[in-house]
Amino acid sequence: MSRSTLSLSKVLVTGALAVLGGVMAGQITGRGNTAHAGDESAAAATYQIGSALPGLSPQLVQLFMNGQAVFNKNFTAAEGLGPIYNEVSCVTCHGAGAPGGGDPLGPGATSFNVTHFAFDNQGFFDPIRDLGGLVIQKKTIRDTSHPNCTIPGEQVPSVANVVSTRNSPPVFGFGLLDAIPDSEILKRQTMNIDGVNGFANWGMELQAVEVEPVPGIPLPAYGPSRVGRFGWKSQTATLFQFSAEPFNIELGVSSPFFPQEFTPQGMRFAAQLPATCNVADHAVNDFDNSMSVALYHFQALLAPPPVLPKNDAAKLGEKTFHKIGCENCHASELRTGERYNLLLASGTTVRVRQLENRVVNAYSDLLLHDMGANLADDPSGSTMGRVMGRADGRHWRTTPLWGIRFKKALLHDGRTADMATAILEHGGEATNARNRFAALTADEKNQLVAFLNTL
Ligand code: HEC
Ligand code: HEC
Repeated sequence: MSRSTLSLSKVLVTGALAVLGGVMAGQITGRGNTAHAGDESAAAATYQIGSALPGLSPQLVQLFMNGQAVFNKNFTAAEGLGPIYNEVSCVTCHGAGAPGGGDPLGPGATSFNVTHFAFDNQGFFDPIRDLGGLVIQKKTIRDTSHPNCTIPGEQVPSVANVVSTRNSPPVFGFGLLDAIPDSEILKRQTMNIDGVNGFANWGMELQAVEVEPVPGIPLPAYGPSRVGRFGWKSQTATLFQFSAEPFNIELGVSSPFFPQEFTPQGMRFAAQLPATCNVADHAVNDFDNSMSVALYHFQALLAPPPVLPKNDAAKLGEKTFHKIGCENCHASELRTGERYNLLLASGTTVRVRQLENRVVNAYSDLLLHDMGANLADDPSGSTMGRVMGRADGRHWRTTPLWGIRFKKALLHDGRTADMATAILEHGGEATNARNRFAALTADEKNQLVAFLNTL
């Protein structure tokens, strides 16, 4: 284990404590001094989509740019790509509008989607890891740089009866989501208004690298549970995790937190791969975590989508949005905590005041909702679908609506590009709101869509 890995693990522990401290301080001192929503829109005119948060110090701007370079970089096998992978860079799937966006190709596109598979064994959810579950890695370095590596890309095995396609979402403004205290999300749980009863998913906080069951291959230790907020099912609690994990799952780049290499038969460590496929210098590719941390910096410091000024139609649409109950899930305001400590690879942290005491206009409660059979992983209902923590196939996190105007495909599987269609697909807990939308006049529907197009 390298020295830098050790120091990072210490920071993760202290950073976590500081975050918790911030949460408690927020509860004690109340919310009087928070920046108001106008701040976000006032800044809107002055920056472009894909920019860093306005007003960052030169040090933080530099970290943002270093991270952006890793996010945009095309990795090669010699740098740790593969042996099986989905794409060679983060930006390939997260590029609509600007680096950090979502789904570049639009409805019907499959290239930038990710497929999950599993086996529902009469109500027992089996991730079939020996067969390469839960996520397909469709490409292989055999077809590009390493013809002698015999490992093929993955296909869904015939035994899988749960198969779910996931569209790639944008990550703009994600530092703000990371900075929202658990308590802020939890207070909207089970509100039981208008049939809406959201609940939180939970994830473990990645904290330290401690155990070395295979010499030279550290494994992560997990800390306390925190409220999930990232991913289609809010399955992941921290933005640091949703930086290191896709690096491993989508690109095949391993790090001390995610040291496995994926192979079509399951997971192995680099030392267990055939020599022709074991091409990177280190047993663990991002051996000192520096690139995983850089990816986290880029995402944490990426500004939220700048809002557009509202014309009269959009103003009417905003009123309708609140009136017909969309706000019960698509919460227009959540608040960040008092302190945000950005973890640095060097072993220290730096505060990011632009993420502290902010109003976040993400239009999501970050909770899970039962959205009915039509949107379920398995619309037939014959399997439980893709289980993730407390979420089963019918549960989805309320999708943040900020930046929706930059998206080319909507809903978890990208099934439509049309906002009205996406709203009419709502069911389950959203049935009342959906029916009220369906009953609007054509003009009122257009106004609501005009409002969404300013976000
Ligand atoms: C092959 C396409 C693909 C690549 C490459 C990819 N992603 Fe993603 N990304 C996705 C998909 C699909 C999801 C939704 C996953 C889910 O929740 O099921 C996602 C989700 C995310 C999220 C959470 C989004 C949310 O709405 O909460 C983050 C953060 C993220 N990716 C970061 C990254 C980073 C960093 C990289 C590069 C290391 C990366 N992704 C590479 C497809 C991709
Ligand atoms: C019960 C909670 C709930 C209510 C009420 C609700 N939504 Fe949603 N909304 C969701 C969830 C969850 C998703 C993600 C569903 C999926 O992808 O399968 C979603 C997705 C969307 C999307 C697609 C976003 C994207 O980027 O893919 C739009 C647009 C949308 N909602 C608008 C609305 C509007 C307008 C209303 C009011 C008529 C509304 N929603 C009411 C929970 C809700």
